[in-house]
Amino acid sequence: MNSTTLRVSQASSLPRPKGFLSHDLVSIRDLAPREVEAVLELTAVVKARPGNFRAALAGKQLVMFFEKPSLRTRLTFESGMASLGGVSFFVDQTHSRLDAREKLSDIAHNLERWVNVIVLRTFSHVTVEQMAECAGIPVINALSELEHPCQALADYFTLQEKFGDLKNVRLAYVGDGNNVAHSLVLACASLGSSIRIATPAGYGPDAHIVADAREIARETGANIELLRDPHEAVQGADAVYTDTWVSMGHEHESEQRAGIFADYQVNEALMAEAAAHALFLHCLPACRGKEVTDAVIDSQQSAVFDQAENRMHVQKAILLLLLGGGMTHPARRSDHA
Ligand code: CP
Ligand code: NVA
Repeated sequence: MNSTTLRVSQASSLPRPKGFLSHDLVSIRDLAPREVEAVLELTAVVKARPGNFRAALAGKQLVMFFEKPSLRTRLTFESGMASLGGVSFFVDQTHSRLDAREKLSDIAHNLERWVNVIVLRTFSHVTVEQMAECAGIPVINALSELEHPCQALADYFTLQEKFGDLKNVRLAYVGDGNNVAHSLVLACASLGSSIRIATPAGYGPDAHIVADAREIARETGANIELLRDPHEAVQGADAVYTDTWVSMGHEHESEQRAGIFADYQVNEALMAEAAAHALFLHCLPACRGKEVTDAVIDSQQSAVFDQAENRMHVQKAILLLLLGGGMTHPARRSDHA
C-alpha cells in the first residue's frame, strides 16, 4: 500500500479523526497540535481525491459575514463548499460592524436555526470569539485583527508539499507582526517547525500570542525567534514570507509605515541571503514595490499562487472536520477538481 492509498483509507473513517474535538476555528490555539496535523493530512487527501468528497457536505449550509473586502477567502469558501456538495451564502458586512444593528448573541441564535457553519471576517477578534461562544454551530475565523488561521494552515500545507517534513523547515517572516504573523507562529509551534520573525521595533507580534506559541513549542520542539534584522532572519531560510505593511483598517498609517518598513522589503538582494532553494511566500493581496518587488513575487521562487490554491483545499478539510462530512466514493481514484 503506497502512502496515498494509506491516507485515503484512513480518511474513510471520517467524520472526525479520533481526538478531533475542536468545535470552532477562531484561533490556531483552538486546535491541539495533533489536530493541526490532522487538518494538513486531510487536506492532502481532499486535494488528491476531490471527487471522493463531492457529496460529503450535501444538505449543509455555510454563511459568511465579511466586514472587510476579500478575493481569496470568500471565493475559496464558496468554491470549496460547492465542491463538497454544500451551499454558501455571502453577506456583505462592509457598510457596518456585524453587531451594529442587533446584539451578536441574537444574530448567533438566529443563524444556528438556519445554517450549519458561520464564517466571519471582522475588525475585532472579540466579535469572532463572542459569536463562537454564543452559536451552537461551528464558527470559523476568516481573518480578524488578531489572526488569520485558514491562511496559516494553507501556508504550512504549501511548505509541507514543497519540502516534506515541516520539522526541518526554516521559515523567515519579514515585516509587520500582524494577524498573518500571529497565525503563522502558532501553526509553526503546533507543527514543531522553525520560524524567525523580523519586525521593526513597535511592530512585533502580540506578546500573548508569542507566549502561547512558546508554550506549545515546549511540547512540540518548535523553534521561535523574534528579531529586528531582516538579513539575520532570512539567512539560510527555506522560505521567506512577507505581508502588506498596511493591513485593512490601518490605511491612515500608510505613509508613516512606508518609512518604518522600508528596510524590510523582500527584494532580490534579501532573497539571495536565503537558501538557494528558498521559496517566496505572501498571503496576498500584495503591494508590489512596497513589501515585495515584482522581480521576487514574479520569480520562479514565488509560491504565492500555490498558497492561494491551497486555501481552498485546506478550508475544505476544515469544513469536513468541523461539520463531520465523510467521503462518498472511497474506491474511486481518478477524479479531478
Ligand atoms: N489572503 C487573503 O485572505 O486574501 P483575501 O483578503 O483576498 O481574502
Ligand atoms: N494582514 C492583512 C492580510 C490580508 C489577507 C490584512 O489584515 O489586511
